[in-house]
Amino acid sequence: KIGGKCPFAGDTVGGAAGSEPTLQHWWPNRLKVELLHQNPREANPQDPDFDYAEAFSRLDLAEVKKDIKALLTSSVDWWPSDYGNYGPQMIRMAWHSAGTYRIADGRGGAGEAMQRFAPINSWWDNGNIDKSRRLLWPIKQKYGDALSWGDLIVLTGNCSLEVMGFPTFGFAGGRIDAWEPDNLTYWGPEGWNGEKATEVAPGPMEGHPNEMVTRTLRWTGEPGDDNYDLEAPLAASNMALIYVDPEGSAKKGIPEDSAADIRITFGRMAMNDEETVALIAGGHAFGKSHGMVNPEKIGPAPEGAPIEAMGLGWQNPDGKGFAEYTMTNGIEGSWTSNPISWDNEYLENLFKYEWEQTRSPAGALQWTPVDKDAKRTPDAHIEGKDHPLMMMTSDIALKVDPSYRKICEKFLDDFDDFTDAFARAWYKLTHRDMGPKARYLGAEVPKEALIWQDPVPAVDFELVNASDIADLKAKILASELSTAELIGVAWGAASTYRDSDKRGGADGGRIRLAPQKDWAVNNPAEVEKVVRVMAGIKSDFDGAQSGRKVSLADLIVLGGAAAVEKAAKAAGVEIEVPFTPGRNDATDEQTDVQSFNWLQPVSDGFRNYHRSDVTYNVSPEQIFLDRAALLKLSAPEWTALTGGLRVLDVNSDGEYKQHGVFTDRPGVLTNDFFLNLTSPAFEWQKVDEAGMTFTLNDRDSGEVKFRATRCDLIFGSNSQLRQLAEFYAQKGGQEKLVRDFVAAWNKVMMHDRFDV
Ligand code: HEM
Repeated sequence: KIGGKCPFAGDTVGGAAGSEPTLQHWWPNRLKVELLHQNPREANPQDPDFDYAEAFSRLDLAEVKKDIKALLTSSVDWWPSDYGNYGPQMIRMAWHSAGTYRIADGRGGAGEAMQRFAPINSWWDNGNIDKSRRLLWPIKQKYGDALSWGDLIVLTGNCSLEVMGFPTFGFAGGRIDAWEPDNLTYWGPEGWNGEKATEVAPGPMEGHPNEMVTRTLRWTGEPGDDNYDLEAPLAASNMALIYVDPEGSAKKGIPEDSAADIRITFGRMAMNDEETVALIAGGHAFGKSHGMVNPEKIGPAPEGAPIEAMGLGWQNPDGKGFAEYTMTNGIEGSWTSNPISWDNEYLENLFKYEWEQTRSPAGALQWTPVDKDAKRTPDAHIEGKDHPLMMMTSDIALKVDPSYRKICEKFLDDFDDFTDAFARAWYKLTHRDMGPKARYLGAEVPKEALIWQDPVPAVDFELVNASDIADLKAKILASELSTAELIGVAWGAASTYRDSDKRGGADGGRIRLAPQKDWAVNNPAEVEKVVRVMAGIKSDFDGAQSGRKVSLADLIVLGGAAAVEKAAKAAGVEIEVPFTPGRNDATDEQTDVQSFNWLQPVSDGFRNYHRSDVTYNVSPEQIFLDRAALLKLSAPEWTALTGGLRVLDVNSDGEYKQHGVFTDRPGVLTNDFFLNLTSPAFEWQKVDEAGMTFTLNDRDSGEVKFRATRCDLIFGSNSQLRQLAEFYAQKGGQEKLVRDFVAAWNKVMMHDRFDV
């Protein structure tokens, strides 16, 4: 009690901001539109005009690296370094920071340093990485805003490899830190205790080893089955793991099963078999696993730790609680006899010895050499003491899986090849989510362009000027192409962008190329027609002796702009759609078809495209919200774009082509979508049992006036979206819609233009 009885505030304070129950508890299934407004400007203390690229470019990278390397080879009392070198634990920190990346939705990855926040900071798999980041704090403090946590974590991984004799492939800065946890990313259906996740967050035992799952809900089939697969977009076998359980699928210690899990999860991260072997064998050349203490004794993860722990978790009550008492994963031991040196001993040991299952002091399943004369490894802290070597079930997997085994044998034979493969795979791992090379900063960016960077050739010609743009627009509008075709194809080109890993977008003109040109969502025949007509316009323009040229990528975006202007004018609003030339056309050779296919939507509310041959565990409007989030749209931008695209009549061909087109004047940029959606003159009727489609019926005559999907009606039924729909349907809504549509349209067209 503070200050006795208070006549105004009462004696008991029952709750404060965010106390449960909240909205989330009462209506767990409501569409959480507020997720579009995460990590807002207000959460960031940096000046609004702070320019990270500019600040980073003033850093002396060599000096930063010198500081990091000095730290790596030091030791502090509160967390002494194993073998006198923090390198191994820092490599694990960097790997886990990048390793959350998944190609299905581009989320995860090292980009925003999300490892600092819940839930990732508290995943059991990230045990004691809180100590690694805390060790780095003096360096972060010294360089301040000029070195983001995201860059520092990856750079420290590189420095660690280098101090232990490994030649890294390169480093790019440019990661921009988030300032709050991410509440949006789906990490899996199960709770941390293996049960189906309830809508309420897990309790204070979060991250406790007892809560590590036995079998999760995310898998179909069993390892070895033909249908064995992992739910999309996930890329880890269990909740709170980065990839797979080191003790094997469901902790059963079966290497063959573990190989199946590794292949699927590393594949989801865009790594092929060779890259996967290089990464695991390369990473486990260093360091050790820690499993000295019964996991039951370990304190809560950082997010649930007591306030005086100051953000550190997993308090270990045994002995000193660190050094030779360290408890992290639960497995104990090292893979090689010199864990702080780059060599080929991991693979040599894996193949030279037979391995048998045993248990660590903490009770975890692991493997030890059968041969009692096998090499041993020194204790990380106690002079003169040594231990048998260790492998995890996930390491033995590389030996028993025929494809992995072949690659291991190749690397065993050729250490230089292995070194190069690991260097490249590490570079890809840690830079995969940064998007185009235009975002890469610093003196250590390799010159070589890599296919996973989705390269687009540099513009080596003079760009169009204002009068060219006006002429080209007139030519496009005078061609055989309709506004719907022009807008549909421009939207199809640009809307592949996802802010998670900065892939996709209109630059490169990849909508002309496989696989994008053939995606059903893009109406392939329409794409073919637009590209054919545009190619003619391009060829006339490029051949006109002006010396200037235009790419198809630019023409497609310009066509969209011209058509939107025309459609706005038809609705009585004169407006100029901004256009910034400078895109170029990529080739088939520069396009990794398999990797681009991940950008193909299974359900896309913007064009009412919903594949029927997919099992959805979530509703189409949730996937629609997800796409809006990947396009970095605010709720008003999302609403304006959807309402505009519907009346512009650009839905994908097929079942839902006419759904949501609530207008008698398709192709005109009216606010009719909102007028009809909010009109009490209609009633809405469910058509199919599943509640996917609806009719809008005239209340008086009963006549069916329009058809809709859930992705249309959500703008009238969800309480937050309804306010926005009413906003665009009210007085002044027509003009406001056109202006907001154009601004949001341009935002989408420009998302991937990191060059301007
Ligand atoms: C340590 C599992 C892949 C680098 C560990 C530990 C586990 C583990 C359980 C011990 C953690 C502890 O108790 O301290 C796995 C599994 C993998 C995998 C299951 C995939 C199948 C990788 C990759 C890299 C890597 C791809 C890097 C390229 C390391 C390093 C350590 C380590 C350097 C030593 C950390 C230290 O000495 O503190 N790994 N790992 N691992 N891992 Fe992995």
